Amino acid sequence: MSIRRTTVKAALAGEGAGDIRVMGWVRTRRDAKGFSFLEINDGSCLTNLQVIVEEGTPGGELLKELGTGASVAVAGELVASPGKGQRFEVRAKELALLGQADPETYPLQKKRHSDEFLRTIAHLRPRTNKYGAMLRLRSALSQAIHAYFAANGFAWVHTPIITGSDCEGAGEMFRVTALTDAEAALPAAARAEKDFFGKDAFLTVSGQLTAEPLALALGKVYTFGPTFRAEHSDTSRHAAEFWMVEPEMAFADLEDNMDLAEDLLKSLVRTAMVDCAEDFGLFAKYVDPTLTETLSTFLAEPFVRLPYREAVSILAAAKKDFAYPVGPGLDLQSEHERYLAEEHFRRPVIVYDYPRAIKAFYMRQNDDGETVGAMDVLVPGIGEVVGGSAREERLDVLEARIRELRLPLEAYWWYLETRRFGTVPHAGFGLGFERLLMLVTGIGNIRDVMPFARTWRHLEF
Ligand code: 4AD
Ligand code: MG
Repeated sequence: MSIRRTTVKAALAGEGAGDIRVMGWVRTRRDAKGFSFLEINDGSCLTNLQVIVEEGTPGGELLKELGTGASVAVAGELVASPGKGQRFEVRAKELALLGQADPETYPLQKKRHSDEFLRTIAHLRPRTNKYGAMLRLRSALSQAIHAYFAANGFAWVHTPIITGSDCEGAGEMFRVTALTDAEAALPAAARAEKDFFGKDAFLTVSGQLTAEPLALALGKVYTFGPTFRAEHSDTSRHAAEFWMVEPEMAFADLEDNMDLAEDLLKSLVRTAMVDCAEDFGLFAKYVDPTLTETLSTFLAEPFVRLPYREAVSILAAAKKDFAYPVGPGLDLQSEHERYLAEEHFRRPVIVYDYPRAIKAFYMRQNDDGETVGAMDVLVPGIGEVVGGSAREERLDVLEARIRELRLPLEAYWWYLETRRFGTVPHAGFGLGFERLLMLVTGIGNIRDVMPFARTWRHLEF
């Protein structure tokens, strides 16, 4: 048989009715008197294609090998289906077994498997309905992100992954080195000198610092790529490697930033619900039955915009036992974020104007001397999905802040020059792509919205 094939998706749409070849993995086989039914899936869509194999079909003697998980090629006729549940089906004219899957040892038998178990077979779980749907959504949303920014006049820029500076100043970076073990044992200065770049190098935690100079030339830019954090947070929302969408806009303030974040999120939720309706339907039905309602509210209403000060008052007055304290000057924990979005407002909330003491050096100081123009978008079920700010564009204020935090001023010479020469107000944010996927699928664990998750103590696959 030749490799040319019709996808299951195209076949189910009735494309090329007549003789076709389809290839895929058997989801189930049912044998009746005189013929068998194969349900096959090739990953092109959620629905399986039904194949009818009559007794005596060439290759039909292979049927007993075609259990769940085996791969098969079918040549046959695509015909309107008399049965319920599908418009088209295939009458096999010839079968070929591509690869067996021993039913004794193939882990994905036709029954419900736990998420925890499926994580241990991340190389096979994409063949389940749920993970196939998640991966197709992941792809569609990635493309929707590029389409959104293209339609809104943003240039797509590629910021470096290897970096010499810690954007968030939290010291949670993975080191990148080309040193031998012996060289790595040298004292710090000698070690750095000896290393590939002649200085310490890390995997970036955010593309922001290098996106800024590009925004301050092109006006509106975004970067969308992998970011890395060596946080030891073993939670359902933290990964060591994740993807971040980071728009950066010149001539923009905090309000423009909030407007963009809200519009982008709504646009992506719409893509998931409308353009990916079949895959979305699986999550709305089996993963989170409240998903459609939650996301419809998400789309229908404006996000709440709430100064940090007021958020703290609401939390302090809440009749709720929080594990972490709430109070002016303390950062919001995920339990607080979720209380605001899930219970108090029951829709997304943008908290802004956080205390300067708990935020990164680059955030723009407000006139009160106490707060910075920071914003976090909090959503039900997850908490923070977006973190961003207006950027400090005033050279003297920025320099003073870097000094105050005892960060290495020299290392930021190029960043400071963008303020020295033709500085302008600008703003941007980072949207955690996996957290967006959790939002639109109702999947509760970040490990289940990435193909092969990298988290604290887990580097399998
Ligand atoms: O709030 P964060 O730390 O902001 C920044 O890194 C800014 N430099 C972004 C910018 O302004 N351009 O991270 C942004 C988002 C968070 O809101 C969260 O959604 C996601 O990135 N995020 C993580 N997602 C998964 N695992 C982790 N360990 C994450 N840390 C942050
Ligand atoms: Mg944040």
